[in-house]
Amino acid sequence: MGTEEQVGGKTASKVAPATGKLGVMVVGLGAVATTMIAGVEAVRRGLAKPIGSLTQMGTIRLGKRTENTSPRIKDFVPLAGLNDLVFTGWDIFEDNVYEAAAHAAVLDARMLDQLKPYLETIKPLPAVFDQYYVKRLNGTHVKKGKNKRDLAEQVRADIQAFKKTVDRVVMIWCASTEIFIEPTAVHESLGAFEKGLENDDIAIAPSQIYAYAALSEGVPFANGAPNLTVDTAAMIELSKRNAAPICGKDFKTGQTMMKTVLAPAFKARMLGVSGWFSTNILGNRDGEVLDDPESFKTKEESKLGSLDYIFQPELYPDLYKELYHKIRINYYPPRGDEKEAWDNIDIFGWMGYPMQIKVNFLCRDSILAAPIALDLVLFMDLAKRSPSLRSIGIQEWLSFYLKSPQAAPGLYPEHDLFIQSMKLKNTLRHIMGADLITHLGLEYYD
Ligand SMILES: NC(=O)c1ccc[n+]([C@@H]2O[C@H](COP(=O)([O-])OP(=O)(O)OC[C@H]3O[C@@H](n4cnc5c(N)ncnc54)[C@H](O)[C@@H]3O)[C@@H](O)[C@H]2O)c1
Repeated sequence: MGTEEQVGGKTASKVAPATGKLGVMVVGLGAVATTMIAGVEAVRRGLAKPIGSLTQMGTIRLGKRTENTSPRIKDFVPLAGLNDLVFTGWDIFEDNVYEAAAHAAVLDARMLDQLKPYLETIKPLPAVFDQYYVKRLNGTHVKKGKNKRDLAEQVRADIQAFKKTVDRVVMIWCASTEIFIEPTAVHESLGAFEKGLENDDIAIAPSQIYAYAALSEGVPFANGAPNLTVDTAAMIELSKRNAAPICGKDFKTGQTMMKTVLAPAFKARMLGVSGWFSTNILGNRDGEVLDDPESFKTKEESKLGSLDYIFQPELYPDLYKELYHKIRINYYPPRGDEKEAWDNIDIFGWMGYPMQIKVNFLCRDSILAAPIALDLVLFMDLAKRSPSLRSIGIQEWLSFYLKSPQAAPGLYPEHDLFIQSMKLKNTLRHIMGADLITHLGLEYYD
């Protein structure tokens, strides 16, 4: 445990410093992962700015508004510096990160060429993969094992070998969306899960094997996809036992990010919503995988959750009980990573008069996701070094980044982006022993 020190009149357990190298183990070196890695290298070399990354660009207000104290987040909490990040990962294809980034076609060739010598050095380890869980992919760079326990041991061996070359390790899932799996008896306890690994239980998908390996090694695990992975009793138990933080799942990038901004605004003003139709076209490999109905179902469940929790129809039946929410994702190759999303929102106001809002977001999927992946890596490492966070399991304060936030059993997840942002910043203040900010502000009128 950390030492105690007085900060701002309060007692805070000290967060361990971010000394040495932070090893980042990325599962799936596809569009998001390669865009994150290439971006970090571009920033290190002064070729680009880390736009979209709260850890790199954000500030945090401390004390009263009259004090004018707003340091950069990275100067306030001890985060690993970008120069100290070391990347490795797994993929079912043998392409190195340069080749995978070129294939993903997110970044232009001129930028990639400048980064090529570095990106070529990152070569994927053989993956844990089974086509049953991702129907549209068929990779050959995969591990073989006598059962799922054996595969988990092989991933643990990969982690142990990497640990010898760096000071700390974090794992993040940037691999494809797996088919929809509901928790079964095998997920109810760590003991049941370990038996399931031995018996090749069908409800244990590859993502769960990586997560189990990471948490067993005391390594934090973040999940960029909507798969059932660490949102089970078994993994929460393992996370707490080994002080290996976990958080929710599925990067909150484009359409859902907009939803969790707009919906709280309608609710704050007590405007009703009768329908919300969301559709997308995208043509990258993620889009191809999501074209499979079983993977789409996993994504759909993740995307659907936010509105129900924000609108609380049980509290506001006149406004939201009849809401019809529909989500479509259409694979359309010509667009590549440049997804286009349309939302038609049917709202109603005073005396029930109807109105409509249209949102047309022409986004770049991986450009939005890369800084989120980076921030999650850096904050999960921070959590692991924070005495008050490392052993609590779920890091609810990272909900800000995720379409499916994870909360303590029995607690409803918070989806409102601004509540999530406040929660995140107050958590940072809390671990550093600074005063929390409630936005009450009556003291200015004394
Ligand atoms: N880009 C976004 O805005 C966004 C938002 C939310 C979630 N996501 C999710 O992030 C994930 C990555 O997205 P992407 O656009 O980079 O997809 P991608 O298809 O470009 O990359 C995924 C990579 O994972 C690899 N892979 C699949 N199964 C694997 C396994 N078991 N082990 C190791 N590697 C494996 C694939 O070969 C591929 O290279 C997807 O699940 C996607 O749904 C993306």
